Amino acid sequence: MTKKITITDIQSMRDSGSPIAMVTAYDYPSACLASEAGIPVILVGDTLGMVVLGYESTIPVTVDDMIHHAKAVVRGANRSHVVVDMPFGSYQSGWQDALRNATKILQESGCDSVKIEGGSRSAKTIKHLVEAGIPVMGHIGLTPQSVKQLGGFKVQGKTPRDAVHLIADAKDIVSAGAYAIVLELIPAALSQMITQRIAVPTIGIGAGPFCGGQVQVLHDILGLYRKFEPKHAKKFHEVGEDILRALLEYRNQVENRIFPSAKESFYMDDHALDLIRSQLPVLDDSLSSAARILAEQDYQLIAKASEHEKTVVDS
Ligand code: KIV
Repeated sequence: MTKKITITDIQSMRDSGSPIAMVTAYDYPSACLASEAGIPVILVGDTLGMVVLGYESTIPVTVDDMIHHAKAVVRGANRSHVVVDMPFGSYQSGWQDALRNATKILQESGCDSVKIEGGSRSAKTIKHLVEAGIPVMGHIGLTPQSVKQLGGFKVQGKTPRDAVHLIADAKDIVSAGAYAIVLELIPAALSQMITQRIAVPTIGIGAGPFCGGQVQVLHDILGLYRKFEPKHAKKFHEVGEDILRALLEYRNQVENRIFPSAKESFYMDDHALDLIRSQLPVLDDSLSSAARILAEQDYQLIAKASEHEKTVVDS
Protein backbone atom coordinates (compact mmCIF):
# COMPACT_ATOMS: atom_id res chain seq x y z
CA MET A 1 0.00 0.00 0.00
CA THR A 2 1.26 3.52 -0.83
CA LYS A 3 2.27 5.53 2.21
CA LYS A 4 0.17 8.67 2.65
CA ILE A 5 1.84 11.99 3.40
CA THR A 6 1.05 12.87 7.00
CA ILE A 7 1.17 16.10 8.98
CA THR A 8 4.49 14.84 10.44
CA ASP A 9 5.92 14.62 6.90
CA ILE A 10 4.64 18.15 6.21
CA GLN A 11 6.38 19.42 9.36
CA SER A 12 9.61 17.63 8.32
CA MET A 13 9.48 19.37 4.94
CA ARG A 14 9.23 22.71 6.71
CA ASP A 15 12.04 21.84 9.16
CA SER A 16 14.37 20.76 6.36
CA GLY A 17 13.58 23.88 4.32
CA SER A 18 11.84 22.03 1.47
CA PRO A 19 9.11 24.26 -0.02
CA ILE A 20 5.68 22.60 0.08
CA ALA A 21 3.61 22.69 -3.13
CA MET A 22 -0.13 22.56 -2.55
CA VAL A 23 -2.92 22.89 -5.09
CA THR A 24 -6.70 22.62 -5.02
CA ALA A 25 -8.59 19.75 -6.64
CA TYR A 26 -12.31 19.13 -6.69
CA ASP A 27 -12.74 15.86 -8.58
CA TYR A 28 -11.16 12.48 -9.34
CA PRO A 29 -9.25 13.32 -12.58
CA SER A 30 -7.65 16.48 -11.18
CA ALA A 31 -6.69 14.66 -7.97
CA CYS A 32 -5.10 11.84 -10.02
CA LEU A 33 -3.08 14.38 -12.02
CA ALA A 34 -1.98 16.37 -8.95
CA SER A 35 -0.94 13.17 -7.27
CA GLU A 36 0.91 11.93 -10.37
CA ALA A 37 2.75 15.28 -10.42
CA GLY A 38 3.97 14.50 -6.89
CA ILE A 39 2.09 17.38 -5.23
CA PRO A 40 2.31 16.49 -1.52
CA VAL A 41 -0.80 18.35 -0.33
CA ILE A 42 -4.14 18.66 -2.13
CA LEU A 43 -6.75 21.10 -0.85
CA VAL A 44 -10.42 20.48 -1.53
CA GLY A 45 -11.10 24.19 -1.19
CA ASP A 46 -14.51 25.76 -0.81
CA THR A 47 -13.46 27.81 -3.86
CA LEU A 48 -15.23 24.92 -5.57
CA GLY A 49 -18.33 27.06 -5.01
CA MET A 50 -16.99 29.56 -7.53
CA VAL A 51 -14.77 27.65 -9.93
CA VAL A 52 -16.84 24.45 -10.17
CA LEU A 53 -20.40 25.26 -9.06
CA GLY A 54 -20.61 28.78 -10.52
CA TYR A 55 -21.60 30.71 -7.37
CA GLU A 56 -20.43 34.32 -6.82
CA SER A 57 -18.64 33.44 -3.57
CA THR A 58 -17.82 30.53 -1.26
CA ILE A 59 -20.74 31.35 1.08
CA PRO A 60 -23.38 28.96 -0.41
CA VAL A 61 -21.12 25.89 -0.19
CA THR A 62 -22.39 23.25 2.29
CA VAL A 63 -20.79 20.45 4.27
CA ASP A 64 -22.46 17.93 1.93
CA ASP A 65 -21.01 19.72 -1.14
CA MET A 66 -17.55 19.48 0.43
CA ILE A 67 -17.97 15.79 1.23
CA HIS A 68 -19.26 14.96 -2.26
CA HIS A 69 -16.20 16.51 -3.93
CA ALA A 70 -13.72 15.39 -1.26
CA LYS A 71 -14.72 11.73 -1.70
CA ALA A 72 -13.79 11.90 -5.39
CA VAL A 73 -10.50 13.66 -4.61
CA VAL A 74 -9.58 11.11 -1.94
CA ARG A 75 -10.15 8.29 -4.47
CA GLY A 76 -7.65 9.90 -6.86
CA ALA A 77 -5.12 11.33 -4.40
CA ASN A 78 -2.95 8.27 -3.85
CA ARG A 79 0.00 9.53 -1.70
CA SER A 80 -1.03 13.17 -1.45
CA HIS A 81 -2.35 14.47 1.86
CA VAL A 82 -5.94 15.66 1.36
CA VAL A 83 -7.12 18.63 3.40
CA VAL A 84 -10.77 19.71 3.16
CA ASP A 85 -12.15 23.19 3.82
CA MET A 86 -14.83 23.50 6.47
CA PRO A 87 -17.40 25.63 4.66
CA PHE A 88 -19.17 28.77 5.87
CA GLY A 89 -21.59 28.08 8.72
CA SER A 90 -20.08 24.73 9.66
CA TYR A 91 -17.87 25.93 12.54
CA GLN A 92 -18.66 29.58 13.39
CA SER A 93 -21.51 28.77 15.80
CA GLY A 94 -19.27 27.05 18.34
CA TRP A 95 -16.74 24.26 18.78
CA GLN A 96 -19.44 21.60 19.32
CA ASP A 97 -20.93 22.21 15.86
CA ALA A 98 -17.42 22.42 14.44
CA LEU A 99 -16.46 19.09 15.99
CA ARG A 100 -19.62 17.41 14.69
CA ASN A 101 -19.09 18.75 11.15
CA ALA A 102 -15.35 18.05 11.08
CA THR A 103 -16.02 14.48 12.25
CA LYS A 104 -18.62 14.04 9.49
CA ILE A 105 -16.22 15.41 6.85
CA LEU A 106 -13.40 13.15 8.01
CA GLN A 107 -15.55 10.03 8.36
CA GLU A 108 -17.55 10.37 5.16
CA SER A 109 -14.88 11.69 2.78
CA GLY A 110 -11.84 9.78 4.07
CA CYS A 111 -9.72 12.96 3.96
CA ASP A 112 -6.64 13.51 6.13
CA SER A 113 -7.29 16.89 7.75
CA VAL A 114 -9.56 19.94 7.67
CA LYS A 115 -8.94 23.67 7.19
CA ILE A 116 -10.66 26.42 9.16
CA GLU A 117 -10.58 30.13 8.38
CA GLY A 118 -9.91 32.77 11.06
CA GLY A 119 -7.18 33.69 13.54
CA SER A 120 -7.66 34.24 17.28
CA ARG A 121 -11.46 33.96 16.89
CA SER A 122 -11.09 30.35 15.64
CA ALA A 123 -8.40 29.32 18.17
CA LYS A 124 -10.78 27.74 20.69
CA THR A 125 -12.48 25.70 17.97
CA ILE A 126 -9.13 24.55 16.55
CA LYS A 127 -8.03 23.49 20.06
CA HIS A 128 -11.12 21.31 20.55
CA LEU A 129 -10.77 19.65 17.16
CA VAL A 130 -7.07 18.95 17.67
CA GLU A 131 -7.80 17.52 21.14
CA ALA A 132 -10.33 15.23 19.47
CA GLY A 133 -7.59 13.97 17.15
CA ILE A 134 -8.50 15.97 14.04
CA PRO A 135 -5.54 17.67 12.32
CA VAL A 136 -6.39 21.30 11.49
CA MET A 137 -4.82 23.70 9.02
CA GLY A 138 -5.47 27.39 9.79
CA HIS A 139 -6.13 30.18 7.30
CA ILE A 140 -5.59 33.91 7.99
CA GLY A 141 -5.23 37.17 6.06
CA LEU A 142 -7.91 37.39 3.38
CA THR A 143 -10.42 34.81 4.53
CA PRO A 144 -12.91 34.46 1.66
CA GLN A 145 -15.81 33.36 3.88
CA SER A 146 -15.64 36.79 5.60
CA VAL A 147 -15.29 38.71 2.35
CA LYS A 148 -18.45 40.71 3.00
CA GLN A 149 -17.07 41.85 6.36
CA LEU A 150 -13.63 42.60 4.91
CA GLY A 151 -15.15 44.75 2.17
CA GLY A 152 -13.97 42.68 -0.79
CA PHE A 153 -10.96 40.67 -1.93
CA LYS A 154 -8.34 43.11 -0.58
CA VAL A 155 -4.76 42.70 0.59
CA GLN A 156 -4.77 42.40 4.41
CA GLY A 157 -2.28 43.54 7.08
CA LYS A 158 -1.00 46.64 5.32
CA THR A 159 -1.18 48.95 8.36
CA PRO A 160 0.98 48.41 11.48
CA ARG A 161 -2.15 47.73 13.52
CA ASP A 162 -3.52 45.10 11.10
CA ALA A 163 -0.08 43.52 10.70
CA VAL A 164 0.33 43.12 14.47
CA HIS A 165 -3.14 41.55 14.65
CA LEU A 166 -2.21 39.03 11.97
CA ILE A 167 1.00 38.05 13.79
CA ALA A 168 -1.08 37.52 16.96
CA ASP A 169 -3.65 35.52 14.96
CA ALA A 170 -0.94 33.21 13.65
CA LYS A 171 0.56 32.66 17.11
CA ASP A 172 -2.86 31.97 18.65
CA ILE A 173 -3.83 29.28 16.18
CA VAL A 174 -0.42 27.63 16.39
CA SER A 175 -0.82 27.54 20.21
CA ALA A 176 -4.24 25.98 19.62
CA GLY A 177 -2.57 23.17 17.66
CA ALA A 178 -2.88 24.05 13.95
CA TYR A 179 -0.33 22.00 11.99
CA ALA A 180 0.07 24.63 9.22
CA ILE A 181 -1.38 28.03 8.29
CA VAL A 182 -2.49 29.40 4.95
CA LEU A 183 -1.56 33.08 4.59
CA GLU A 184 -3.76 34.66 1.93
CA LEU A 185 -3.25 38.05 0.29
CA ILE A 186 -0.82 39.69 2.69
CA PRO A 187 2.37 41.65 1.94
CA ALA A 188 5.46 39.51 1.42
CA ALA A 189 7.40 41.21 4.24
CA LEU A 190 4.61 40.47 6.73
CA SER A 191 4.33 36.82 5.69
CA GLN A 192 8.12 36.55 6.19
CA MET A 193 7.74 37.93 9.75
CA ILE A 194 4.97 35.42 10.49
CA THR A 195 6.89 32.52 8.93
CA GLN A 196 9.93 33.31 11.08
CA ARG A 197 7.86 33.55 14.26
CA ILE A 198 5.95 30.28 14.20
CA ALA A 199 7.14 26.69 14.31
CA VAL A 200 4.70 25.23 11.75
CA PRO A 201 4.69 25.68 7.96
CA THR A 202 3.09 28.75 6.42
CA ILE A 203 1.50 28.15 3.02
CA GLY A 204 1.11 31.34 1.00
CA ILE A 205 -1.35 32.42 -1.64
CA GLY A 206 -0.64 35.97 -2.73
CA ALA A 207 1.71 36.21 0.27
CA GLY A 208 5.10 36.35 -1.46
CA PRO A 209 8.02 33.95 -1.71
CA PHE A 210 9.08 33.61 1.95
CA CYS A 211 6.43 31.11 3.11
CA GLY A 212 7.12 27.45 3.83
CA GLY A 213 4.99 26.53 0.83
CA GLN A 214 2.56 27.83 -1.76
CA VAL A 215 -1.04 27.00 -2.57
CA GLN A 216 -2.95 27.92 -5.72
CA VAL A 217 -6.41 27.30 -7.09
CA LEU A 218 -6.03 24.72 -9.88
CA HIS A 219 -8.42 26.56 -12.20
CA ASP A 220 -6.40 29.80 -11.83
CA ILE A 221 -3.02 28.29 -12.70
CA LEU A 222 -4.44 26.31 -15.63
CA GLY A 223 -6.56 29.10 -17.12
CA LEU A 224 -9.79 27.18 -16.51
CA TYR A 225 -11.68 29.93 -14.68
CA ARG A 226 -11.97 32.75 -17.16
CA LYS A 227 -14.29 34.99 -15.16
CA PHE A 228 -11.60 36.35 -12.83
CA GLU A 229 -7.79 36.22 -12.96
CA PRO A 230 -6.14 36.99 -9.60
CA LYS A 231 -2.85 38.93 -9.70
CA HIS A 232 -1.12 36.37 -7.49
CA ALA A 233 -1.89 33.43 -9.80
CA LYS A 234 0.59 32.62 -12.56
CA LYS A 235 -0.94 30.76 -15.48
CA PHE A 236 1.20 27.70 -16.12
CA HIS A 237 -0.93 26.67 -19.08
CA GLU A 238 -3.98 27.91 -20.99
CA VAL A 239 -6.00 24.71 -20.59
CA GLY A 240 -9.24 26.64 -21.04
CA GLU A 241 -8.11 27.80 -24.50
CA ASP A 242 -7.10 24.24 -25.43
CA ILE A 243 -10.49 22.88 -24.33
CA LEU A 244 -12.36 25.58 -26.23
CA ARG A 245 -10.39 24.88 -29.42
CA ALA A 246 -11.03 21.13 -29.06
CA LEU A 247 -14.78 21.62 -28.52
CA LEU A 248 -15.08 23.93 -31.54
CA GLU A 249 -13.35 21.29 -33.65
CA TYR A 250 -15.62 18.53 -32.28
CA ARG A 251 -18.72 20.55 -33.14
CA ASN A 252 -17.36 21.28 -36.60
CA GLN A 253 -16.62 17.60 -37.29
CA VAL A 254 -20.07 16.45 -36.12
CA GLU A 255 -21.83 19.13 -38.14
CA ASN A 256 -19.82 18.27 -41.26
CA ARG A 257 -20.09 14.48 -40.80
CA ILE A 258 -16.33 14.11 -40.38
CA PHE A 259 -16.73 12.49 -36.95
CA PRO A 260 -17.25 9.64 -36.33
CA SER A 261 -15.19 8.12 -39.12
CA ALA A 262 -14.54 4.45 -39.88
CA LYS A 263 -11.85 4.53 -37.19
CA GLU A 264 -14.36 5.26 -34.41
CA SER A 265 -17.11 2.92 -35.71
CA PHE A 266 -17.90 -0.76 -35.07
CA TYR A 267 -18.52 -3.39 -37.76
CA MET A 268 -20.41 -6.68 -38.12
CA ASP A 269 -19.35 -9.92 -39.64
CA ASP A 270 -20.18 -9.79 -43.45
CA HIS A 271 -21.96 -13.15 -43.35
CA ALA A 272 -24.27 -12.01 -40.49
CA LEU A 273 -24.93 -8.76 -42.31
CA ASP A 274 -25.89 -10.54 -45.59
CA LEU A 275 -28.24 -12.81 -43.65
CA ILE A 276 -30.00 -9.90 -41.98
CA ARG A 277 -30.28 -8.01 -45.28
CA SER A 278 -31.84 -11.02 -47.00
CA GLN A 279 -34.43 -11.31 -44.20
CA LEU A 280 -35.27 -7.61 -44.10
CA PRO A 281 -38.40 -7.68 -46.37
CA VAL A 282 -39.94 -10.49 -44.26
CA LEU A 283 -38.86 -8.77 -41.06
CA ASP A 284 -40.30 -5.40 -42.13
CA ASP A 285 -43.58 -7.10 -42.94
CA SER A 286 -43.90 -8.94 -39.66
CA LEU A 287 -42.78 -5.87 -37.75
CA SER A 288 -45.52 -3.80 -39.28
CA SER A 289 -48.16 -6.43 -38.59
CA ALA A 290 -46.88 -6.67 -34.99
CA ALA A 291 -47.14 -2.89 -34.75
CA ARG A 292 -50.72 -3.05 -36.13
CA ILE A 293 -51.71 -5.64 -33.47
CA LEU A 294 -50.20 -3.53 -30.70
CA ALA A 295 -51.93 -0.39 -31.95
CA GLU A 296 -55.27 -2.27 -32.03
CA GLN A 297 -54.73 -3.41 -28.42
CA ASP A 298 -53.94 0.19 -27.37
CA TYR A 299 -57.12 1.38 -29.05
CA GLN A 300 -59.24 -1.19 -27.24
CA LEU A 301 -57.70 -0.24 -23.88
CA ILE A 302 -58.35 3.46 -24.45
CA ALA A 303 -61.94 2.78 -25.49
CA LYS A 304 -62.48 0.65 -22.38
CA ALA A 305 -61.01 3.37 -20.11
CA SER A 306 -63.19 6.14 -21.55
CA GLU A 307 -66.27 3.91 -21.31
CA HIS A 308 -65.45 3.37 -17.61
CA GLU A 309 -64.93 7.13 -17.05
CA LYS A 310 -68.28 7.85 -18.71
CA THR A 311 -70.05 5.38 -16.37
CA VAL A 312 -68.44 7.00 -13.30
CA VAL A 313 -69.44 10.53 -14.38
CA ASP A 314 -73.03 9.50 -15.30
CA SER A 315 -73.67 7.62 -12.03
O1 KIV B 1 -10.84 27.44 -0.91
C1 KIV B 1 -9.69 27.56 -1.34
O2 KIV B 1 -9.37 27.21 -2.47
C2 KIV B 1 -8.70 28.14 -0.44
C3 KIV B 1 -7.44 28.62 -1.07
C4 KIV B 1 -7.69 29.94 -1.67
C5 KIV B 1 -6.33 28.65 -0.09
O3 KIV B 1 -8.94 28.27 0.71
